Amino acid sequence: MRDKALSEDEVMRILEETRSRDFCYDRFFSTMCTRPHPIAIRAHDLFLETNLGDPGLFPGVADLEQQVVHMLGELLGCANVAGYISTGGTESNIQAIRAARNEAGRKNGNIVVPASAHFSFDKIGDLLCLEVRKADLDENLKVDLGSVESLVDGNTVALVGIAGTTEFGQVDPIEGLARLALERGIHLHVDAAFGGFVLPFLEGDWRWDFQVKGVSSITIDPHKMGMSTIPAGGLLFRGQDCMNALETETHYLTKARQASLTGTRSGAAAAATYAVMRHLGREGFQEMVNYCMDLTRHLTLGARKIGIEPFIEPVMNVVALKVPSTAEVREELMKRDWHVSMTREPNRALRLILMTHMTRENVNLFLKDLEEILRS
Ligand SMILES: Cc1ncc(COP(=O)(O)O)c(C=O)c1O
Repeated sequence: MRDKALSEDEVMRILEETRSRDFCYDRFFSTMCTRPHPIAIRAHDLFLETNLGDPGLFPGVADLEQQVVHMLGELLGCANVAGYISTGGTESNIQAIRAARNEAGRKNGNIVVPASAHFSFDKIGDLLCLEVRKADLDENLKVDLGSVESLVDGNTVALVGIAGTTEFGQVDPIEGLARLALERGIHLHVDAAFGGFVLPFLEGDWRWDFQVKGVSSITIDPHKMGMSTIPAGGLLFRGQDCMNALETETHYLTKARQASLTGTRSGAAAAATYAVMRHLGREGFQEMVNYCMDLTRHLTLGARKIGIEPFIEPVMNVVALKVPSTAEVREELMKRDWHVSMTREPNRALRLILMTHMTRENVNLFLKDLEEILRS
């Protein structure tokens, strides 16, 4: 740090210039986050200095957090859940598995996750000293139940299913996993970091949430399809026991015990999530998901017209296109300022997420560029 002070204007000038180097959401197909809803920004600002790590000092926002947990639980089939607003999917997944491990009382166990699991589970293996066993996927890129069964043993502390995989937006057979979990008395965690705010608004009888007996915990991220501000993650447990299994004593704070992973944590994202959920209601989320799904169909149809097929029929607003020489095509698209990503081998594809910041007009421009690149 320099000795001399800089004026506020000078600092802001530097910051604004720096911010202008960031890319713009309008052309992002690669991210599962989006611009927060305006009311989320207002709520975030209002609660910026609050600290949920010391909730006795901030009972207002602590109450809001519990109301958010309740609303999320209601959305996912069980209003009576326990949980908290984390920093995102990674923290929620870590904490869900930590709770499962602590409840099982086994330190050197294993977890069985689909091969499609988010990389946060690799971090979990490392942090919690658990072996991460990866189950095969079937031809639709859902986890294969036979493969899961073959990997489970007496040291398995948790099974994981994904409701909205990061790369393909696919939903695992949660009911099948739940049967297995109940039979063996194992914790079943559902990672719905992305799909949690999508699946409740899709047509079709999706059975994946707390309505399925045997689902013990769910990750759902308000900072993805929940239109909240970053960092807002949701961690929900069917019962209080799992929260208790995470608690440590907190000697000097206003509450004697704490279950969250981080100590000091902002209440801003919890307030922002509360604001969006109350303001939009189910109607608003339905409209938003309809919008994203309409874009998804438009993109898929447009891709088919230029001879490109999706890897799987899109389930939610995630499209993985089979394009030849994927890496080169992606590079050419990036040169044209389209931010796209790729899925992993052996199912390499161009991965596109249709978030609320995307427009039909930009999808059309993107398809035109994609066609030109493929023809060149
Ligand atoms: C299914 C799933 N789980 C977990 C995560 C991790 O979430 P975060 O980046 O908020 O930690 C992601 C991120 O995209 C995800 O798609």
